[in-house]
Amino acid sequence: MSKILITGVAGFLGSHLADWLIRDGHKVVGVDNLLGGYEDNVSNDVEFYKDDSRDFDKMKSLTKGVDIVYHCAAAPHEGLSVFSPNIITEHTYNSTVATVSAAVINSVKRVVFCSSMARYGEQERLPFTEDMAPKPKDPYGVAKYAAELVTESLCRAHGLEYVHAIPHNIIGPRQKYDDPYRNVASIMINLMLQGRQPIIYGDGEQKRGFSFVNDVVDPLVKMGFQPNVVGEAINVGPDEEYVSVNELAQRIAVLMDFKSLKPVYVGDRPMEVKYATCSAEKSRRLLDYKTTYTLDRGLSEMIDWIKERGARPFRYHMALEIINDKTPSTWKDRLF
Ligand SMILES: NC(=O)c1ccc[n+]([C@@H]2O[C@H](COP(=O)([O-])OP(=O)(O)OC[C@H]3O[C@@H](n4cnc5c(N)ncnc54)[C@H](O)[C@@H]3O)[C@@H](O)[C@H]2O)c1
Repeated sequence: MSKILITGVAGFLGSHLADWLIRDGHKVVGVDNLLGGYEDNVSNDVEFYKDDSRDFDKMKSLTKGVDIVYHCAAAPHEGLSVFSPNIITEHTYNSTVATVSAAVINSVKRVVFCSSMARYGEQERLPFTEDMAPKPKDPYGVAKYAAELVTESLCRAHGLEYVHAIPHNIIGPRQKYDDPYRNVASIMINLMLQGRQPIIYGDGEQKRGFSFVNDVVDPLVKMGFQPNVVGEAINVGPDEEYVSVNELAQRIAVLMDFKSLKPVYVGDRPMEVKYATCSAEKSRRLLDYKTTYTLDRGLSEMIDWIKERGARPFRYHMALEIINDKTPSTWKDRLF
């Protein structure tokens, strides 16, 4: 049995990860400042601290006696990061410096850093493979890539093992669906549940791969323990189905029996990558990765979960730091 610290444990991914690790017999300590996530995502079996992972002293105390740190805390708001770069960098990069340096002080064995496909930016070839040089396009991608580098630097300097997990767009129960700044699928579901049309940026032909949360957590768990992944960056999630945002809206409408779909199109979001899809080859090779959920099955489970909790008004809980003619009207004028 290992003692494991998960930052961002009230979040979507962190809470599922906690459940899997507890089921495997590990002791899980979790920290979350509730910038995102939902407090009721956290199981009673987690030793939970409502604290901030940017707080170095707090993190020094929470990493005592810990074998593995999964650093999932972040402000995963890619589009918003162009307009609120200070908030996003603080919670995405600064929180990593504090967490990893605290892990060093307490001689944690391994740090699994949860990065993002945003670190790839726009590449000449698709799908993205781990050997491509990262070219992040927005402050969130920059913060994630910088956080990878600082994790690597500190872990190498002080002899800790580290692994970088690179998830794509994840879907599933427990994802925040009342945040107007991110999570395209759950925003669409919440809008359709309210009888409203989905809002799409640009022409909607931007393409993404979506991963059901179980297909991300399985490889993530293995990254904490397997010896063959130390020092690696690995894409996690399926690579079988890529869809445009237009097609995503259509699939959700069919699954929800939402008649007369007529998406509302608004201007492009500045710096949005047009095509972003990741290869799962390295994950198959090193982690024996297998996809278990189709996109439709994953969407159905997420729809059921959101329906059960009920539609909710969107909460504009993060400040827009830069408001100008490039700021999306969805946020400036609170269209969601
Ligand atoms: N969901 C996705 O599609 C996706 C894709 C790629 C990468 N990721 C990465 O996976 C991780 C988890 O994402 P998620 O979708 O579960 O998001 P989430 O917002 O549901 O979870 C992140 C959690 O971190 C917490 N948090 C933020 N700043 C914090 C701080 N300073 N101290 C303590 N807690 C803090 C939030 O309150 C939230 O509960 C993030 O690092 C994210 O960047 C997510």
